[in-house]
Amino acid sequence: MADHSASIVDGCVVLDRDLAVPSRWLRDHGDDAGSLNPVSKQRLTDTFAIDRDIAPLAVALDRDWLDVDWSDGARTGHDVAALRKLASSRRRPAVRSDAGFTIPPELELWGEPPAVTWFDAEVIEDDDRWVDALSHLRTFGWVAFDGAALGETPTRKLAARIGYPRNSIFGDLWEMKSGATEHMDSAYETFALDVHTDGTYSHDAPGTILFAQQIRTGDGGDSVLIDGFAAARDFRAANPEAAHLLTRFAIRAHYIEPGVHLLAERPPIRVDEDGKLVQLSFNNYDRAPLLPADGLVDEVIDAYNDFRAVFSDPARALRHDWKPGRILVFDNWRCFHGRTAFTGSRTFLGCYTNHEDLEGAYRVAGLTL
Ligand SMILES: [Fe+2]
Repeated sequence: MADHSASIVDGCVVLDRDLAVPSRWLRDHGDDAGSLNPVSKQRLTDTFAIDRDIAPLAVALDRDWLDVDWSDGARTGHDVAALRKLASSRRRPAVRSDAGFTIPPELELWGEPPAVTWFDAEVIEDDDRWVDALSHLRTFGWVAFDGAALGETPTRKLAARIGYPRNSIFGDLWEMKSGATEHMDSAYETFALDVHTDGTYSHDAPGTILFAQQIRTGDGGDSVLIDGFAAARDFRAANPEAAHLLTRFAIRAHYIEPGVHLLAERPPIRVDEDGKLVQLSFNNYDRAPLLPADGLVDEVIDAYNDFRAVFSDPARALRHDWKPGRILVFDNWRCFHGRTAFTGSRTFLGCYTNHEDLEGAYRVAGLTL
């Protein structure tokens, strides 16, 4: 076992007398059960509430475990070997000189949420009217249906309209039932779910997400959608340097459960070679430890937090009130989604499609891309 030492020097935890660990970063990267789910490694720390001037007050080393008492009253625990490996990793952002990005003009960005339009579920099987629903999805990033039959059939037909159900660790079509335990994911809990995108741990994140409600008792549990492209536009206008950094600095994310360990990384704001905004990726629950970059720790954390502060503004939130027979489809590369807390039980069918299939469906329908 390595012979470690820990001390506080100039308001910073210093490991083994040679590695100064950035305080704000360290406060956010505890390995203790209050900071991290011990099995799924999903994050429990409120990253965004950490004081920029957070400082360590005391450190205690017990073999290979470091406890840190913080100026905000919290105590975090750290696996020293893992911490040393992580904190000595270095990342530099990719070089790109153009700070801007463009957004296709045919998209109608909504900083404030539009009224919810519910399409009759019969539209799914109607070749002509289906194009109206698809156009709504293209323009606003989401489309909602009401009056669908219960069971898998409408969701499968809808996925087939776009492409095909994408298989994943959850299956091609999966049941999401509150209190279920087959996956170690926060989506199966009853607390409010911070807005995020799915599949940050996948190199090719799902393009669309389909949710079809089957059973509902109790109150709450509205779906919350945010137009991420509108938020990215507003974020860049207010803070171009930070937006530029988030187009260049890859954030890692992981999904862990017994027999599964996925990991991927990309910039939260992904811009293509032509400077067009193509994809947003942000899920703080599934974020893997941030690799500190030389001289950029605070800049990256600030940019990450500031972007989240812009897009999670409740004034941007479009709420879909659920009842059985309603189906919501949204573009997971454009919209952030979350959920309000709820009581009672709630069962959904969920399904993903690929983004290239969504783009293909737009082309086939003659919609502008
Ligand atoms: Fe999700």
